[in-house]
Amino acid sequence: MNLKYRKTIIAGNWKMNKTLSETRAYAEAIKPQLGKHKWCEVVLCLPGVNIPGAVRLFKDTRVSIGGQTCHYEASGAYTGEVTVEMLREVGAKYVIVGHSERRQYYNETDFTVNQKVKAALEAGLRPILCVGESLEQRELGVTEELITYQVKVALAGLAEGQVRRVVIAYEPIWAIGTGKTATAEQAGAVCSHIRTIIRKQYGARTARAVTIQYGGSMNAKNAAELLAQPDIDGGLIGGASLKPEEFLAIIRAANQE
Ligand code: PGA
Repeated sequence: MNLKYRKTIIAGNWKMNKTLSETRAYAEAIKPQLGKHKWCEVVLCLPGVNIPGAVRLFKDTRVSIGGQTCHYEASGAYTGEVTVEMLREVGAKYVIVGHSERRQYYNETDFTVNQKVKAALEAGLRPILCVGESLEQRELGVTEELITYQVKVALAGLAEGQVRRVVIAYEPIWAIGTGKTATAEQAGAVCSHIRTIIRKQYGARTARAVTIQYGGSMNAKNAAELLAQPDIDGGLIGGASLKPEEFLAIIRAANQE
């Protein structure tokens, strides 16, 4: 983390979990213990249908609500999809774009990810852009090349000011939902590589300002060590964000409490 130049953002990715009543129970459990978390922003990205309810449940707290995907078109014949404007109007502030599960199961490509990032920014949402390599790619030694390609294509055509509003989440696919976490050094090295890419393309000021998260089996036990890396400015947390106590412990680690 580097609190001088950028915000730490702790975001939960609930994936396809929790009904609205379960969301209410979670909000009741977590709200009294949230504290001021003055150093970090807290975000919960949950299933689209529960966003309006969650926005109401977390009103007057510092928890922002986000979606998990969006379409890049403003409207049209795309059965099952939601637009960025729909998300914005019901109170979402963030949207995850290019999660590896979306890339794997729903054919998201770097080019559609780029369109989604642009659409989200134009609607005033902050995209959480996910990038990351598979185990085969890591073992072949092409992690840096792959991440460079993913980041460059996803951010193509953006102005510096827009890039600063993008949150980049480095999520090695082999660490997602597996209980296998990248070591703090491995994660820190790729996050610092991402900052170098931004510096080369958009300059030092933009690179310093961008929040870069780590995601992949982050939990209450390993959060402090990961967040101690200078280029890791938060986490995108799946499984551990579903348990209020575990998520609170990660927020506390980011708050350096
Ligand atoms: P995990 O998921 O924390 O359960 O590994 C992270 C993610 O997919 O964003």
